[in-house]
Amino acid sequence: MHHPIAQLFDGHEDIEAEIDRREAQSVARTADVDAHHPRRLTLTVAEIITETASTRTFRVRAADGGPLPPFLAGQYVGVFADGTSRPYAMASSPARLDHYDLTVRRVATGRISNHLIDTLAVGDGLTTTGPMGTFHHNPLFHGEDVVFLAGGSGVVPAMSMIRDIVDRGLPRRLHLIYGSRRADDIIFRDELDAIAAEHPGIRVDHVVLEPDPSVPGPTGLLTAETIEALAGPPAGRMVYVCGPQALYPYALEQLTRLGHPRRRIRFEANGAPAHPEAQPHWPDGIDPAEEVTVTAGGTSFRTPRNRPLLDALEDHGIRPEAACRSGECGLCVVRVVKGEVHTAEEARLRLSDGPFGYTHSCVAYPLTDAEIDA
Ligand code: FES
Repeated sequence: MHHPIAQLFDGHEDIEAEIDRREAQSVARTADVDAHHPRRLTLTVAEIITETASTRTFRVRAADGGPLPPFLAGQYVGVFADGTSRPYAMASSPARLDHYDLTVRRVATGRISNHLIDTLAVGDGLTTTGPMGTFHHNPLFHGEDVVFLAGGSGVVPAMSMIRDIVDRGLPRRLHLIYGSRRADDIIFRDELDAIAAEHPGIRVDHVVLEPDPSVPGPTGLLTAETIEALAGPPAGRMVYVCGPQALYPYALEQLTRLGHPRRRIRFEANGAPAHPEAQPHWPDGIDPAEEVTVTAGGTSFRTPRNRPLLDALEDHGIRPEAACRSGECGLCVVRVVKGEVHTAEEARLRLSDGPFGYTHSCVAYPLTDAEIDA
């Protein structure tokens, strides 16, 4: 129904027909975008694959049996479990959308990794976000010859990238240098070695901390010498880094020693900083373990300064939307109405966020008593 005033104009039928046509187009486009970028996925665990003693792959399919939304190798979904969520990268190939493989390694203090490995069974349902994240290959900026430094379960996005190259016959060269503690910790070892043997563009080197006769080559950490001995000088190539938090400053230091520029290194976001007080803008003399009072969602609670606001809010039943939990996606944004918070340098805030009191709660820490609009 169009406004009666339109009828005062000559040719209004044509204009109204055009408006109707564009509205229909817009509805169709929105439905298309929603199908590719759904807020939530309802999945079923179809299979559980034991990768190593501490690692399982949960092969999940859409509960309605249909294809899953497309993603780029290296992206993740936020898995909801036990009142919170964690990002897990897909290990599977984006060329196969009948399933996603979510590979989870047990972390000693990891609430959700333990929960998933101990409780999830074939046939169970699982709710996740749609695919997200920016840690993926961009042929325009990254070129077709890349090095991937992985530590532990940081190999998961590399596995997806390698499967993608193989499935689509991409011309990309990828050299994976994969550090593990012991030989039996290496995830996807048989498949990685088989692919490397068959595909000249894919090279895989395992580096273990504890020497083992089944793993030839250098042992120890991924030092500059080891990287250079295996991959040659990385000059001109994009280097991806994914692994435990300690790998990031270490890999940066080693690559810098090789003269590799920071702009040619891509780090996967990897959780909130465990020690925000180590960041340069944490104020002097503020005890990170001391508790402050946070007021949000009609309730007040005490929480230590070094607990991310998002975790503290979830502890008290307040659940802002969240996915990356690393300051990157911006979904967990909250407004600080009163008090002061430390926003970690990982937060990718918009220029306008700071002046209006917005912060990313997954990497924000209350420094004083604070009131939060969540
Ligand atoms: S959950 Fe992504 S920025 Fe906080």
